Amino acid sequence: MEQDVAIVTEGLTKCYSKKSVVNNLDLEVMRGQVFGFLGPNGAGKTTTIRMLLGLVKPTAGKIQILGHNLFSNREMIAKKVGAIVETPAFYSYMTGRENLKVLMQSSNISASSKRIDYLLEMVGLKGREKEPVKQYSLGMKQRLGIAATLLSEPEILFLDEPTNGLDPAGTVEMRSLIINLSQQNYTIFLSSHLLNEVELMCTDVVIIQKGEKRLQGKMKELLAQGKEFAIEATPASLAIAVLENYCQTSITVDANGWIVFKAEHFEVPTILRLLIEKGVQIYQVQERRNSLEKLFLELTGQPSESFATVKMEVSLS
Ligand SMILES: Nc1ncnc2c1ncn2[C@@H]1O[C@H](COP(=O)(O)OP(=O)(O)O)[C@@H](O)[C@H]1O
Ligand SMILES: [Mg+2]
Repeated sequence: MEQDVAIVTEGLTKCYSKKSVVNNLDLEVMRGQVFGFLGPNGAGKTTTIRMLLGLVKPTAGKIQILGHNLFSNREMIAKKVGAIVETPAFYSYMTGRENLKVLMQSSNISASSKRIDYLLEMVGLKGREKEPVKQYSLGMKQRLGIAATLLSEPEILFLDEPTNGLDPAGTVEMRSLIINLSQQNYTIFLSSHLLNEVELMCTDVVIIQKGEKRLQGKMKELLAQGKEFAIEATPASLAIAVLENYCQTSITVDANGWIVFKAEHFEVPTILRLLIEKGVQIYQVQERRNSLEKLFLELTGQPSESFATVKMEVSLS
């Protein structure tokens, strides 16, 4: 279904002095997806986004945006795409609201002042819109940048590491805003080097490393793979023996004494019944969510050492 596809690349490649920094990358992003484009620093994320925006010429490969070839439809596509690749530039002596107005006039966008108010409120700048931008924090400037790109009502939004450099409060606000946008039918292409950021916000993910795709899929399906469960049970040795016999794999015990085993969701009642029949006392059962980090490790055999993981905090209010 062609019209449901927002972005397609085939064999996308970029070389700098004969060295490829993006190599033969095939991507498919459907409309309405919050697409996580994940990779360590230097993996080629920004270069890819610059190519998708027509700012950097690919060495090889094809790019289709909203069903059209990017290179022969640049102007038409530019109107349907918004992006924040670096900290957006604003007139620092003007207020946030004035900046949006100036931008609107200079880019010939006919947004009503109602729409400006709506956008300022959506990005959480209501009440601060009459202050000069030089008094804004980096997070506020980033959010004003998002309001600015939304003025022209784009269909696709590219956000390159949108929480980079933000303090914890700014990070929480930016994530809430992105989650809010994702509920409004925008297609969002979000790059990040933070595994759990992508896990939290994205419906789909591609992981790249050294310019190459290493892993892709629906976030839910990826996280459901190799699901683990944990029980608090005594005697532990008996529980482990029963589980090893059932699962035919080795069973681990975590730092808190929980006994951890791999199983499918539907098997859990059978396993618990079996344990009880053998005389194991079960106090608690937990589902242990897979993490992208673990998955990355399992699939590539390489630790995701250059990925950063941060403590997640998000407010949905
Ligand atoms: N204009 C350029 N000239 C030469 N090398 C570049 C240029 N832009 C990026 N690179 C290199 O390409 C690689 C990928 O960079 P980048 O796309 O910025 O990665 P990421 O955004 O994932 O951190 C890096 O090794 C970087 O040094
Ligand atoms: Mg980058």
